[in-house]
Amino acid sequence: MAKKTVRDIDVAGKRVLVRVDFNVPLKEGAVRDDTRIRAALPTITYLLEQGAKVILTSHLGRPKKQPKEGLVLNPVAERLAELLKKPVKKLDDLTGATVETVVADMKPGEVVLLENSRFDPREEKNDPSLGEELARLADIYVDDAFGTAHRAHATTAGVAEHLPSVSGFLMQKELDALSTLVTAPGRPFVVVLGGAKVTDKIGVIEAFLDIADDILIGGAMAFTFYKAKGWATGSSLVEDEEGVAVAKRILDKAATAYCNLLLPKDVVVADKMEAEAQTKTVAADQITEGWMGLDIGPATAAAYAAKIAAADEVFWNGPMGVFELAPFAAGTKAVAEAMAECKGMTIVGGGDSVAAVNQFGLAGKMTHVSTGGGASLEYIENGGVLPGVTVLQDKPEA
Ligand code: 3PG
Repeated sequence: MAKKTVRDIDVAGKRVLVRVDFNVPLKEGAVRDDTRIRAALPTITYLLEQGAKVILTSHLGRPKKQPKEGLVLNPVAERLAELLKKPVKKLDDLTGATVETVVADMKPGEVVLLENSRFDPREEKNDPSLGEELARLADIYVDDAFGTAHRAHATTAGVAEHLPSVSGFLMQKELDALSTLVTAPGRPFVVVLGGAKVTDKIGVIEAFLDIADDILIGGAMAFTFYKAKGWATGSSLVEDEEGVAVAKRILDKAATAYCNLLLPKDVVVADKMEAEAQTKTVAADQITEGWMGLDIGPATAAAYAAKIAAADEVFWNGPMGVFELAPFAAGTKAVAEAMAECKGMTIVGGGDSVAAVNQFGLAGKMTHVSTGGGASLEYIENGGVLPGVTVLQDKPEA
């Protein structure tokens, strides 16, 4: 069911609490990549133009339920002020008397950013007292934090129980782009999955075995599949017995599924994980002692690119190799280029694959680049249900 958005509610002169995902990388006290801040601008700008008082809340990092100096939101407030070209008042608390006083004095068109929500131990527990305190600050709640919508926390779920709650434009855009994946994907529907661990992706692989036409596996998780097949993996990164058992289970399920699960048939191996390492390409079942697989091989890259080229819908999560090092970037680059040229719908989700398309300058060629890694995977795994979305008001059927 579609959710109401900020356009479906009167926000003029109202105090609007907006949950954004400003969980951005920092370097030397400054924002290193402001993609997520920029992604929230349409909602913030719209609310300001409508004369709302905008109160922003976000987490940053994983501060272990207490304040941590390097994770205060001050650098984020500075970058946001630059992008908005207007002052952003950064507060040192999330709730409490000072916050209430500042908010009570806000004028329409002003912006306040509350302190990192995860400094409060009640946030991740979704303690009802925090939801109530946050709700006291506002008349309306807007969730624009798609990247955190898989967390049932006080700022993403609890507070919504007390206020009229609608989605922001980023949330709406993400849900629109991802919803076809679980409802009616274009066919052939090709899924590219990489990354280190099968155990992190098991739910999503199982979900895709029921809905995709092809799943193309890359990244270190391929080696756990090789081990499950009884092949030697040399010094490649392989998961423990539990991971291997999971890989076996997936291979068994795939054997009877309509969907094809493809593993790399050749691999670039190296004697160490360094740009100056010795490298060679070997067949998948020929990785010998002392060599580690660090990328899919050229034959696999070509086969995967051909599948992607012929697809009507492609979803990609996780790099094919250690793309940060030039000798092991070709597989990931081949996938990114094939997606850029694909005529169908192309969706990239997940921090590392998004970093890869940015590195290759191809982000603008994708239909949708998601701001949520974990969130997009859980969305697919749960058939389109996320705690931060369920709490928002449904749009009446047209
Ligand atoms: C993310 O970066 O994936 C989101 O901001 C969620 O962060 P978390 O995994 O720490 O909950």
